[in-house]
Amino acid sequence: MKPHAPRGTRDVLPPESEAWQRLMDVAREAFWLHGYREIVLPVMEHTELFIRGIGENTDIVSKEMFTFRDKGGRSLTLRPEATAGVVRAFIEHGLGEKGLPVKLYYCGPMFRHERPQAGRYRQFHQLGAEHLGSAHPLADLEIISLCFRILEKLGLRGLDLVVNSVGDRVCRPAYQDGLRSFLAGGADQLCDDCRRRMEASPLRVFDCKREECRETLRGAPRISEYLCPDCREHLRLLRDYLKAAGIDFRLEPELVRGLDYYTRTVFEFQVPGEGAQNALAAGGRYDELVASLGGKDTPAVGFSLGVERVVLRLDPVKKEKKGIYIVSKDGKPKLRALELLRESHHRGFPAEMDTLGRSLKAQMKAADRASRPLAVIIGEEELEGGFLTLRDMCSSAQERVTEEELWRRLEKASRPDGGKY
Ligand code: HAM
Repeated sequence: MKPHAPRGTRDVLPPESEAWQRLMDVAREAFWLHGYREIVLPVMEHTELFIRGIGENTDIVSKEMFTFRDKGGRSLTLRPEATAGVVRAFIEHGLGEKGLPVKLYYCGPMFRHERPQAGRYRQFHQLGAEHLGSAHPLADLEIISLCFRILEKLGLRGLDLVVNSVGDRVCRPAYQDGLRSFLAGGADQLCDDCRRRMEASPLRVFDCKREECRETLRGAPRISEYLCPDCREHLRLLRDYLKAAGIDFRLEPELVRGLDYYTRTVFEFQVPGEGAQNALAAGGRYDELVASLGGKDTPAVGFSLGVERVVLRLDPVKKEKKGIYIVSKDGKPKLRALELLRESHHRGFPAEMDTLGRSLKAQMKAADRASRPLAVIIGEEELEGGFLTLRDMCSSAQERVTEEELWRRLEKASRPDGGKY
């Protein structure tokens, strides 16, 4: 049997990896423009970080974590998301002590034991940003517009941005009570999970995809009816800022998100008309997470973007290949070819040559397959005459040039309007 990758994981092969690279380039540029600096986190954390951070009753913590014991018996978990890790690092290294806000971004693999299907994997990748230290809706706007600009720059148009407020510690308890009483009326229709959620964490019932549970939720009270004046004002300002920034959005009173740490703003960028895996990126405000994990009271807001889900929707990248393929005879010409290859790389021009010890004819074929626009041919004649033979791989025209002339042409071609080499 051929070896294969574990269920729910996948290889990213070229040319898909080039679309992936493009996403990274666009995102890094946007993070840099907005003043976010990279944090590289471990892929595993102590399990209790996620239990305390994401919430015991969430699907992620109760069903989806890859958890194991290390040799000392401590429980470790492969990170299902990065926000809890960012907050752990923020507290551990006192990152807020030199001034706020602290603006960080990250990218890398996350792990959730979900049922694999298109757009849903057990190992997937996120890139995201966290803005720590501001309670102002201007920080929410910065995070949402950062995410919006990345998606827009990639050419993904027509996405729905849905926004909601899930309230805060002042107004949420009353809402939870209201929702609990409402759900109690239809409790016999709820699945076992939702009956448990109804008691411990009633907002989680909104995460259930079962038809009976969704039906029971019909007519449920909405958080918007319960928001306290501060949460209401926060949402009002955010709406004004989004409008002023020209970012279209829709208020979605049932958007609660699957993680417990959110307060006030939550949002998702969704692909309209698609089912459960329709969120390309998502996030929200988590004003209580830093304190609940042992840090100083620090409001914060962030987003994460699902790399696989975005790459799935990108057009293939048509990367024009530039540079040279060096074709050479064995012996001294080969040594000259190696010198030329090194010099080309030193000058920053792409260059390849044969590594299989093939004949000149086979090397010419390989040059063709490598789709470099120019072949440089080196035989005894070239060596003795002190010149190089250039072959235009498109027209097959050949000419003799000096090495300096080759570099001049490659230099010219490397400019944005520089032609095909
Ligand atoms: P999340 O909604 O759990 O939020 O995940 C964010 C994005 O990751 C999703 O919108 C989706 O694109 C992608 N994603 C999630 N699960 C999978 C999966 N199994 N396969 C493929 N892609 C997936 C968070 O993780 C929060 N940390 C977001 C955040 C940052 N909130 C504040 N700051």
